[in-house]
Amino acid sequence: KKPYVFITRKLPTQIVQALEDVAEVKMWDSEEVQVPREVLLEEAAKADALLTMLSDKVDEQLLSNAPNLKIVANLAVGYDNIDIYTAANNGVVVTNTPDVLTDTTADLAFSLLLATARRIVEGAQYIKEGKWNSWSPFLLAGTDVHHKTIGIVGMGKIGQAVAKRASGFDMEILYHNRSRNTEAETELGAVYQSLEELLKKSDYIVCLTPLTEETKHLFGKEQFKMMKNSAIFINVGRGQVVVEEDLVEALKNGDITGAGLDVFYQEPISNSHPLLELPQVVAIPHIGSASVETRTEMMELCCKNIKDKLTGKEVKSILPN
Ligand code: GLV
Ligand code: GLV
Repeated sequence: KKPYVFITRKLPTQIVQALEDVAEVKMWDSEEVQVPREVLLEEAAKADALLTMLSDKVDEQLLSNAPNLKIVANLAVGYDNIDIYTAANNGVVVTNTPDVLTDTTADLAFSLLLATARRIVEGAQYIKEGKWNSWSPFLLAGTDVHHKTIGIVGMGKIGQAVAKRASGFDMEILYHNRSRNTEAETELGAVYQSLEELLKKSDYIVCLTPLTEETKHLFGKEQFKMMKNSAIFINVGRGQVVVEEDLVEALKNGDITGAGLDVFYQEPISNSHPLLELPQVVAIPHIGSASVETRTEMMELCCKNIKDKLTGKEVKSILPN
C-alpha cells in the first residue's frame, strides 16, 4: 500500500505530480480557505506525510494522534507553527524552505521600507481618489533612504540579503543577532550592536527574527521609545514579536514616524484594527516570499523532501538546523 500524503492547501497539480509516483496524495480543496482544524487532525491521523502552511498548527494534540506520520514539510522558512520538540520525540522529521526564498523575501522587505519611507501607498491612493490638484513642494514628502542607517534585527540569510540591498543605497548597516554574522561584517561592513544601541541609532529598524520564546514581544513600548522620533519600523519576521497596541501608541504619539508591516499578531488582521487606520502604516498580507517563481520552488522543495523521506533518501533542511 502506498504511503498517504495530505497537503493542507490546493497546490498546482503539475507540482504535486512528483509525489504521486510514490504516494497517494490528497489535497485540501481550496486555494484560499484554510483547512478546518478537525479535517487537519483527521487527515494527520492517517497520514505518512503532511505538507503544511504556516497557518496550520502542528502541535502536541496533532502529533500525539498521528501514528504513521514520518515527515511534516512546512511551506515556509519560519516554523513557529510546529512543535518541533514533540515532533522529534515522536520520530517525525520537520522541514522548512530556507535559501530558495532568501532574495525574494529581502526584495519585499526592502520594497516595504522604500514604500513606507517614500509614502508610495499614500501617493497611489491620493491620485486614484482624484485629490491631485497641483504639484506642490512638500506634497507627500517622505524620508530619504540613501545614506541613512538601517538596523537589522535578526541577521540570518534574509537579513544579510537585506543588508546587501542597503549597501547599494549607501546605507550604514547595523545589526543585532543571537550570534555574530562575520560574513555580513566583512563583506557588507555590517556592525554588531546591542539591541538598545541599534534602536537608538537606526533610521530604519528592520525586524526579521523568527518567533521564539525569546523574541515574543521583543518590540514593545520601551523599545519604541528608544527609537528616534524619525524612525521607521519594518516587520517581515513574525507579528507576535511586536506588541501591536504599543506600536499603535508609538505611532500616534510620534515616538516613531512610520511602520511597514508584512506580518501581524493575528493573521489575517481585521480591517478595523487601529493599525490600519494610520496613514503612516503600510500593511501587506504576509507576502514576503510571494513571487510565482519562489513559491513554486518552495512547493517543489516540500514535495522533494516528502518524496525523499518516503523513499528512504537523505532529507535536506531538517529542523532544527
Ligand atoms: C514566511 O513568513 C516564511 O516563514 O516563509
Ligand atoms: C533564513 O533563511 C533566515 O534568514 O533566518
